[in-house]
Amino acid sequence: MQFLLFLLAFSLVKCEETIFVVEFIRHGARSHFENRSIFEDVGQGELTQKGEAQMLQIGLQRRQEYVFKKRLLSERYNQREIIAIATFKNRCIMSGELFLRGIYPLQDIENIAERTYDGYTIENTLIEKVINDTLTDQKTCLRAPILGIPFQNDHFMHTSNCLNLHTYLNQDLFDHQGLYELLEVKFPNGMINSISKELSHTYNRSITSLRHFFTTIDAHIAELYHMDHPHTSFYQQVECFILAHNFHGPNPLPEQIFLSRLLSPLIELFSNLQMKQMSSLKYLLIVLHDTQLSNMLRHLGYFDPNQTSTYKVRFASSLRIEIVKMDESLHLRFIFDNEEFKPQKFCSEGRIMCELSEFIQRLKESIITDADKIKEFCNGSVEQFDFEIKYKS
Ligand SMILES: *[C@@H]1O[C@H](CO)[C@@H](O)[C@H](O)[C@H]1NC(C)=O
Ligand SMILES: *[C@@H]1O[C@H](CO)[C@@H](O)[C@H](O)[C@H]1NC(C)=O
Ligand SMILES: *[C@@H]1O[C@H](CO)[C@@H](O)[C@H](O)[C@H]1NC(C)=O
Ligand SMILES: *[C@@H]1O[C@H](CO)[C@@H](O)[C@H](O)[C@H]1NC(C)=O
Ligand SMILES: *[C@@H]1O[C@H](CO)[C@@H](O)[C@H](O)[C@H]1NC(C)=O
Repeated sequence: MQFLLFLLAFSLVKCEETIFVVEFIRHGARSHFENRSIFEDVGQGELTQKGEAQMLQIGLQRRQEYVFKKRLLSERYNQREIIAIATFKNRCIMSGELFLRGIYPLQDIENIAERTYDGYTIENTLIEKVINDTLTDQKTCLRAPILGIPFQNDHFMHTSNCLNLHTYLNQDLFDHQGLYELLEVKFPNGMINSISKELSHTYNRSITSLRHFFTTIDAHIAELYHMDHPHTSFYQQVECFILAHNFHGPNPLPEQIFLSRLLSPLIELFSNLQMKQMSSLKYLLIVLHDTQLSNMLRHLGYFDPNQTSTYKVRFASSLRIEIVKMDESLHLRFIFDNEEFKPQKFCSEGRIMCELSEFIQRLKESIITDADKIKEFCNGSVEQFDFEIKYKS
């Protein structure tokens, strides 16, 4: 009997195989953009030592999980198995590099420029195009093993190639008053007002708009995290709520375009995987920012507005989507910050995991897949891009 149970358990384990992972991860802890002495040793907006440790640590965890436990990746670094890209921000590129050094400690990680992508599952996807453009542009200054995508080439993570979207977010064309009201409903009893007063005092400034509030709380979180302050998590909840609703307003298009740019490459990639499961590529790492992660999670239904539980996107928060082969068909497992969840909107009730083809279909229906339509909305690119979230008076 025991033997049979063992056999049964063994076969249950055997029939589920992770064949691919795409991971969206926010950069690790960074300094802020204020003139305060707390981050003396590191430039504004750069990864701090804590941020570096965080990314390395997560890489080490992935090594345990995907090299040893799930046996997805080889024990020695194989450049054909992993593609890692980041937005052009140094903190993202550094984060990705440390993450990979965590998966492959003390190993030689070769230069991304030397690889070929033949037969890869990213074939004919927007991701491939963006990588192609970047490799053609910058053959000489590539930093192994991660590719930072210059904002001029970035057509899915960053908004700079979509003028209308960029303007909408950066010039507060969304309904910021309405969002402020939502925030007060989510965090009631004058909480927002007292945070605002506290920030105004600490940072010696008057906070007169949602942007002032946001910029200051963003800076404050960097300091709190740096000091291991127990309230860090609460402030992160507030910040994440703002980001996840930063398209609030009567016009649904900017939000749809933002999500479509971010998610349509996923549809392309998953469709390729459906047809060709034997690609040597096993892991796609995408290092980006809290705005993208928060909005993506909300679209997937992770932030259930009716749930009393609180959610947040922290430094180094990560959304992993595993493609799992089970009984010869492909399924998806969603993991946010090491916890599994199921995007109900995109999968039938009752299943443990999402079915890949169903997910692709429903995701397609939820966004704009017509590239021309997106282009038309975008109305060109931002010519110059040199600013970060900064206090604007
Ligand atoms: C910080 O200081 C620099 C140089 O002293 C100044 O140019 C910059 O405007 C200051 N930034 C802020 C946010 O106060
Ligand atoms: C990327 O470059 C390769 C090699 O030049 C080419 O075969 C492929 O079609 C390109 N992909 C895209 C999406 O442009
Ligand atoms: C606060 O800011 C004002 C100018 O806005 C300045 O005069 C004052 O010295 C600042 N106070 C502190 C404690 O830095
Ligand atoms: C949340 O609750 C409201 C009122 O009970 C309901 O109409 C709405 O559909 C719920 N939303 C979700 C996402 O469950
Ligand atoms: C942007 O919009 C303006 C005004 O509608 C139009 O004249 C222009 O051709 C558009 N530019 C692009 C690149 O689509």
